[in-house]
Amino acid sequence: TAAGVFGPRRVLLASPRSFCAGVERAIEIVEKVLAKHGPPVYVRKQIVHNVHVVRDLERRGVVFVDEIDTVPPGVPVVFSAHGVSPAVHSAALARGLDVVDAACPLVTKVHAEARRFAQRGDTVVFIGHAGHEETEGTLGEAPGRVVLVENVADVATLRVPDPARVSYLTQTTLAVDETEEVIGALRERFPAIRGPRSEDICYATTNRQNALRAVVRDADVMLVVGSVNSSNSQRLVELARRDGTPAHLVDDATDIRWEWLVGAEAIGLTAGASAPGGIVEEVVAALAGLGPVDVEDRQVTREDIQFALPRKVATS
Ligand code: F3S
Repeated sequence: TAAGVFGPRRVLLASPRSFCAGVERAIEIVEKVLAKHGPPVYVRKQIVHNVHVVRDLERRGVVFVDEIDTVPPGVPVVFSAHGVSPAVHSAALARGLDVVDAACPLVTKVHAEARRFAQRGDTVVFIGHAGHEETEGTLGEAPGRVVLVENVADVATLRVPDPARVSYLTQTTLAVDETEEVIGALRERFPAIRGPRSEDICYATTNRQNALRAVVRDADVMLVVGSVNSSNSQRLVELARRDGTPAHLVDDATDIRWEWLVGAEAIGLTAGASAPGGIVEEVVAALAGLGPVDVEDRQVTREDIQFALPRKVATS
């Protein structure tokens, strides 16, 4: 073990970090359904992209499934925070399943825009990551009319039926700077392109990226608490690396390789929007176990956003 070999170090905590309002709401929905119906409760896909959240709920009787066809009749099923396509809703309705949708309201906003833009006859360019659940759900709002681009290179090869009728939307958890580049490339190719009324990248994603920036410039190494399939957590790692700072994604303290910390006087620490705050505290405690640490919390903004629960669970 490396205990005791490190001299005094600073831990720079990026704030805001960890759970956003949409993640808190999604977890609360599952807990409410569990309390009301008792286990098992089914959840389609991971409720949020975090192994600790998922494992904890599994221990309490939640069964996570990839598709709803494996959900037995008469058992409640919750849809994850990332949102689902209308096809999934129809399939659940056809099977008579008791559904509670935990889609983040900020994802639902993008779905509504996709429908509206497609209905006015636009080709909707969706900037996002292929295979991510949020991307699949949003593309499904208007199959064939919503097309995916992942980067500037994709814009160059994009073909649309009418370049005068194009709009764009984005995934909620993208890197703000990279997304601006893609939007810039789209504007160049399609000067008439129209965007969403307000930013699709959500407040939590934006705040966590700004908070990381305030820390990373003084950090020798950056630790980001989050799971590999968490889009906003991955973006934080990439952002730090683009700044030239080594950065590592960890699910918890046990993932930290102590050689990452050799020679690091200042360690930056943050957590993606789906990562529990308690894990950050465990990481700080683990770092303190190696030698004296001076913890500094750098808050760039306060978050007080809260989303109401769906009516179905609000009263239970
Ligand atoms: Fe919603 Fe943004 Fe969180 S879209 S789930 S508030 S990361």
